[in-house]
Amino acid sequence: MTLQPIKYNDGKLSIIDQLLLPQKLVYMEINSVEEGWRAIKDMNTRGAPAIAVVGALSLAVELHQKSLQSKQELQEFVSKSMDYLVTARPTAVNIGRAAIDIKRECQRLIGDDITTCQLKERVIKIIEGMLAKDESDNIALGDHGAKHIIENVKEDIVVLTHCNAGALATVAYGTAVGVIRSLNNFGKLKHAFCTETRAYNQGARLTAYELVHEKIPSTLIIDSAVSIALSRKQITAIVTGADRVAMNGDTANKIGTYQIAISAKHHGVPFYIAAPTTTIDVNMENGDQIVIEERKHEEITHFQGERVAADIECWNPAFDVTPADLITGGIITEYGVFKSTELKEKFKELNLI
Ligand code: MRU
Repeated sequence: MTLQPIKYNDGKLSIIDQLLLPQKLVYMEINSVEEGWRAIKDMNTRGAPAIAVVGALSLAVELHQKSLQSKQELQEFVSKSMDYLVTARPTAVNIGRAAIDIKRECQRLIGDDITTCQLKERVIKIIEGMLAKDESDNIALGDHGAKHIIENVKEDIVVLTHCNAGALATVAYGTAVGVIRSLNNFGKLKHAFCTETRAYNQGARLTAYELVHEKIPSTLIIDSAVSIALSRKQITAIVTGADRVAMNGDTANKIGTYQIAISAKHHGVPFYIAAPTTTIDVNMENGDQIVIEERKHEEITHFQGERVAADIECWNPAFDVTPADLITGGIITEYGVFKSTELKEKFKELNLI
């Protein structure tokens, strides 16, 4: 059975509590915007697309329950809620983009000759539409990425990925793991490697769980084994997800991605970013302006509640920015695989800017 990280039906939302994986597969209910914000902040759900979808759906849940007196009141509630949800985590762009889109549509619809109740239903429909779109975009993206890798590598394809950009980070299928799935579906994947992804272990806990669940031939390595894996394990492509891609191709993703890309270039292995176009920030020229979330020091100093580090000052950035020139394979989107240098032009062609 395929993993369903987000269950939503008619105003009822529950998500897999990712803090309990891989030991327990437990769903938690989200009944309000506040609970949605909390689940994102505490990382019960995480991954750029999932953050956006769960955040927006928490608003849909609350809209279902709420009686609003006027269209004005509804619009203010939608706007205030989305602005609040965006504050839960700063680096992933998708929820910011969702906030802009939902607020803009609500503003546009308010002028239509419809009742408050009808406006509410339409806003809920727009949010619900994000579920199906995320899944179909990921399948398209996975297939584009797989075909590109097959064309370049032909046989014995071995892919390495970092962090979790799988179904658990999205609505379904995943982005980087989506490419691995598509390669596997096409019968072309020889093997996948995933890194454990300190400090939060999204690779060991979540990607490894998904790869095993999907029966994909795979191996877990520690983060610092990437270079030796590149020199000894015949890795033919690296694919990771992204939290925010600037218009020049600079990409923020889980901490450690940057050094993997450097090592990939040294070893002549193509490095790809797999991300839906909702992860590409049309307002950001380059990666210098990307805000990097810093997380609590206990993620480094403690293991399962026990202190393992000496009493020392820490720095715990959750993301880094990989410069565009290291993304040698390309940026895999639902529309195809683009070079960093052609992002702007492709976005214009696709009417995305
Ligand atoms: O801190 P996280 O777990 O939210 O970080 C997730 C990542 O960095 C993913 O690689 C990224 O969001 C892409 S998810 C499709």
